[in-house]
Amino acid sequence: MPLEKYQYMSDVWKDGIFDNKVVFCTGGAGSICSAQVRALVHLGANACIVGRNVPKTERMALDIATARPGAKVLGIGAVDVRKPESLVAAAERCVKELGGIDFVIAGAAGNFLAPISQLSANAMKSVIDIDILGSYNTVKATLPHLLTSAALHRTSGKTAPANGTGGRIVFVSATLHYAGTPLQSHVAVAKAGVDAMAVSVAIEQGPRGVTSNVIAPGPIAETEGVARLTKKEGRDKSAKAVPAGRFGTVKEIADATVYLFADSGNFVNGEVLVVDGGAWHTAGLGNSQFEYPDFLLSGSAVTGVSGEKKAKL
Ligand code: COA
Repeated sequence: MPLEKYQYMSDVWKDGIFDNKVVFCTGGAGSICSAQVRALVHLGANACIVGRNVPKTERMALDIATARPGAKVLGIGAVDVRKPESLVAAAERCVKELGGIDFVIAGAAGNFLAPISQLSANAMKSVIDIDILGSYNTVKATLPHLLTSAALHRTSGKTAPANGTGGRIVFVSATLHYAGTPLQSHVAVAKAGVDAMAVSVAIEQGPRGVTSNVIAPGPIAETEGVARLTKKEGRDKSAKAVPAGRFGTVKEIADATVYLFADSGNFVNGEVLVVDGGAWHTAGLGNSQFEYPDFLLSGSAVTGVSGEKKAKL
């Protein structure tokens, strides 16, 4: 569904700052990543979004393209970030059809609620594979293209970059592992790994002009994450625990992305940009919709959220 501009970016950015640039995004059909890509496309970029679900990814690509007349947005489905060869093929198709890769958003993620006692080795592995190995596979598939872009777009900080910016990657992480979050050990462990990878890329590839940063969203309204992982009736209480008094919007994550990819973010490298209204500072046990420690001690399985474990046939 085409969106009004203010639903996916603020008014502070200048049209055309990403002209002739290309963004490659995993998990690009999701609510947060599609807003990030939509903002970049609005500001001039062309884009390639990849995802597992074919119709969802193709539909979202068409939708994002409405952000700017003449925009090219490729939607490549059947790409699982756990399969390096499918990512390499997608990155190569992106370069062939759109001319290169200047920006990468590593956004694909897996999430559900379960305590370790009810988490199978395969469940843990699924999330580690999607988040950590998926981010690694994304880096490996796109790095040669990011390096090409970085070499063309070195910035001095003293003059406006003549051809804009390039050679930048953002990992979409989370804040779960800062204070510790019950029922999400798998995601907390995985996102800690993603954060560490972003720093490794920053220090290894920074000398070649690449920047690598993390955006850590807090609870963001009207997203798959909130829909899958929270009960409707507990959302007002959760919002009250956010110092900002509300959940965030996808626009607020998109704005952070523009900041990091544009001339404004030249000297930011290896950083975590938390965009959560201050939520993680008040996070932890008190805010869980699954009363601590009563829920854990009960031995119950998580029910009442749409992302609950499905019975095997
Ligand atoms: N609670 C406990 N275990 C769960 C679970 C839940 N809610 N959902 C899945 N699992 C387990 C499965 O039972 C399976 O383990 P098993 O083989 O020991 O039974 C394992 O996780 C893998 O599940 P499967 O559905 O085969 O994996 P998948 O690769 O198709 O899906 C997931 C990956 C599990 C991360 C799934 O939740 C997913 O596809 N998520 C994508 C969307 C998403 O989470 N986006 C992030 C929004 S914040």
